[in-house]
Amino acid sequence: MTGVGNPARRLQRRQADLLVRGGTVLTPNGAERIDVACQAGRIVALGDLRATWCAEVTLDAIGLHVLPGIIDSQVHFREPGLTHKEDLEAGTRGAVLGGVTAVFEMPNTNPLTLWERDLKTKLDAAHGRAWCDHAFYIGGSAVNAEQLELLESLPGCAGVKVFMGSSFGDLLTDDETVLRRILRHGRRRLAVHAEDEVRLRERKALVEPGGDVRQHPVWRDVESALMATQRIVRLAAETGRRLHVLHVSTAEEMAFLAAHKRRVTVEVTPHHLTMVAPECYERLGSLAQMNPPVREQRHQDALWQAIRDGVVDVIGSDHAPHTLEEKAKPYPQSPSGMTGVQTLLPLLLDHVDTGRLSLQRLVDLSSAGPARIFGIEGKGRIALGFDADLTLVDLTARRTIHNDWIASCSGWTPYDGKRITGWPIHTVVRGQVMVRDETLAGQPQGEPLRFLEA
Ligand code: DOR
Repeated sequence: MTGVGNPARRLQRRQADLLVRGGTVLTPNGAERIDVACQAGRIVALGDLRATWCAEVTLDAIGLHVLPGIIDSQVHFREPGLTHKEDLEAGTRGAVLGGVTAVFEMPNTNPLTLWERDLKTKLDAAHGRAWCDHAFYIGGSAVNAEQLELLESLPGCAGVKVFMGSSFGDLLTDDETVLRRILRHGRRRLAVHAEDEVRLRERKALVEPGGDVRQHPVWRDVESALMATQRIVRLAAETGRRLHVLHVSTAEEMAFLAAHKRRVTVEVTPHHLTMVAPECYERLGSLAQMNPPVREQRHQDALWQAIRDGVVDVIGSDHAPHTLEEKAKPYPQSPSGMTGVQTLLPLLLDHVDTGRLSLQRLVDLSSAGPARIFGIEGKGRIALGFDADLTLVDLTARRTIHNDWIASCSGWTPYDGKRITGWPIHTVVRGQVMVRDETLAGQPQGEPLRFLEA
């Protein structure tokens, strides 16, 4: 007797807001066939709950895997100032459609996110419009270096981000004295785009006359990335600061970082794990143009090896939209960047299908990992008391990615036409079903993330 047809037993059942039934749930114990009860945005019960819990809303998860909500710790949502490329509503809509429940957004908007008022502008713009939870980076620069300790502790701040090499927008800090000032003013993990600006400037002439996007990894070469990574790791050691190196793209950096893991965490991106030069440039032209660049096979192999070796801590999408018109400019005037937040999880699930990645490691890299290294409160695991952020996926679903599926204001993906096995089906943010059966549901109710060490 389960109590389902028994009025006396039914009366005793506890009432949840949401019950996720019969899925294979990825908990800290491994994969378990259990139900998940969610109440007031939190996980309140796990196990066989058929006889003991009922709910207003039920999600049938039979045949699905239930992952802790995917966290994308690197997106550029372009608001304010560049909303013809992307905005917070469309960016976060793409996130939840792709199974992402929380994002960290980058400071190279217009104006740059340098001060408390800039952070407030973004938090206000996200209120009532963001479909997932969110935090915003403050840009570290010469003008705000001494205020960063205060700025990084503001509610809704993801931490401080530094561009050591110019990429897109006006945020650039390559001077060693300024880098030291930034490193000395703050305690949280500093996120860095590591390409050496002096070398990039010297080498720009290599690509200026040619107009050939296949030269992108020749201009922004291995040495440019390695030099900057070595420099910032040295400065971080000198100043006792923890570091997060974003979108590592070379075998040489991975070898170096493996020897400096104690203080430094490492991100890789789905495009560096999925695309290969020169094939991607021949097929996609400047749509494959990204900083740091997608490189040759040996680098991709090294990134996968670094995942297997545990050198990599997180996978972030570096969602960086530009319009097709902008991307159609002749190289190198074409801006670097591509959409990615919505395709992050599908691509990783496809890598699970081909056996390159285990589902447990996917969870570690894209949910538990970011929660752990950035100290996000209540996220990153399916456990009692944690936020009810759940990404339900069908590992056997076959889909083809198309541009018209992409929510981004820029409306395109470099993966248009790519066939994928494994797909996000439902997305739950703090107990609210935001995507049901691959379709947007509910209302945007994203909230600022909270951090343990802010
Ligand atoms: O290719 C890139 N584009 N890399 C970055 O780090 C920045 C980004 C952008 O904002 O467009």
